[in-house]
Amino acid sequence: MFTDTSVKEIVRQKYGEAAQRVGQGTSGSCCGGGTTGASSALGGCDPITSNLYDPAQAGAVPETAMLASLGCGNPTALAELKPGETVLDLGSGGGIDVLLSARRVGPTGTAYGLDMTDEMLALAQENKRQSGLANVHFLKGEIEHIPLPANSVDVIISNCVINLAADKDRVLAEALRVLKPGGRFAVSDVVVRGEVPPAIRRNMELWIGCVAGALGDREYLDKLARAGFTDAGIEITRVYNVDDAREFLAAQNADLQQLAAQVDGKFASGFIRATKPAGALAGLASAAAAGMASAAAASADEPATAAASCCGPSACCGR
Ligand SMILES: C[S@@+](CC[C@H](N)C(=O)[O-])C[C@H]1O[C@@H](n2cnc3c(N)ncnc32)[C@H](O)[C@@H]1O
Repeated sequence: MFTDTSVKEIVRQKYGEAAQRVGQGTSGSCCGGGTTGASSALGGCDPITSNLYDPAQAGAVPETAMLASLGCGNPTALAELKPGETVLDLGSGGGIDVLLSARRVGPTGTAYGLDMTDEMLALAQENKRQSGLANVHFLKGEIEHIPLPANSVDVIISNCVINLAADKDRVLAEALRVLKPGGRFAVSDVVVRGEVPPAIRRNMELWIGCVAGALGDREYLDKLARAGFTDAGIEITRVYNVDDAREFLAAQNADLQQLAAQVDGKFASGFIRATKPAGALAGLASAAAAGMASAAAASADEPATAAASCCGPSACCGR
């Protein structure tokens, strides 16, 4: 069994290698044809990451940002972003959703991307340079310790990253802390619907890349409520079945016929929304954490600054 730290190192290594492949132009070809299909930089295309963005969005970002897309949804298509707003993308990877958000909030708004992997941050910086956008800032750090002050963000987006975090409660508490009162949480993530036998669930999670474990849909909503969010809801955007995972499951010697009934329709990508109550301010403990996080804030725009601390839980992706 991996420790939290070793899992986090595996995540960093995998995404570091993925970013390098994109940088070298060896990330593989697109699935499904057309220009809108994102290829998986973690090794060819797959049913999770492909075809998430429409041609207009694909045309609005550098090609390497599209090639580095490793999400499982398109939060920018579903989140309401207004000119002048501040957006934060948790686990921003090559930066596709940050760049798309920056265009939506316009020059009077700001889009931050937060990621812990140096190679992804370097790729994101290059994509920012190519995009010519000035209202984009990539930060180095962990989503469990967001290096931004309390009550400073209008909208939090994220694309298939929270499912990688071992301590999801900590991530949601941090999201609530940095959001302004009335701020919106609008993320794409993998969810499990209904009961699935543990061993099968583990196989599917490994296929999807959720080494730290995906949340059940009900569980996700409960955690959001416990963190202090209101109006939480999940909209399913893509459902996976045994055929999607056939190759992977066959390699695990799984009995596909038998699995189909227990898996089909249970694993899905969803768009998860919630709101920080208008009257809520970050509490004392959160404010203290904010102070520490601000002090440790590391802008990848200014790489000399140190990253956030190494403590805290970890995340991983098996794709
Ligand atoms: C599945 S990729 C998604 C990237 C991007 N959101 C997209 O849609 O292409 C996961 C990204 O999250 C980052 N990541 C994973 N766990 C993280 C953590 N605990 N803190 C910060 N970044 C993390 C990885 O470095 C990687 O770039």
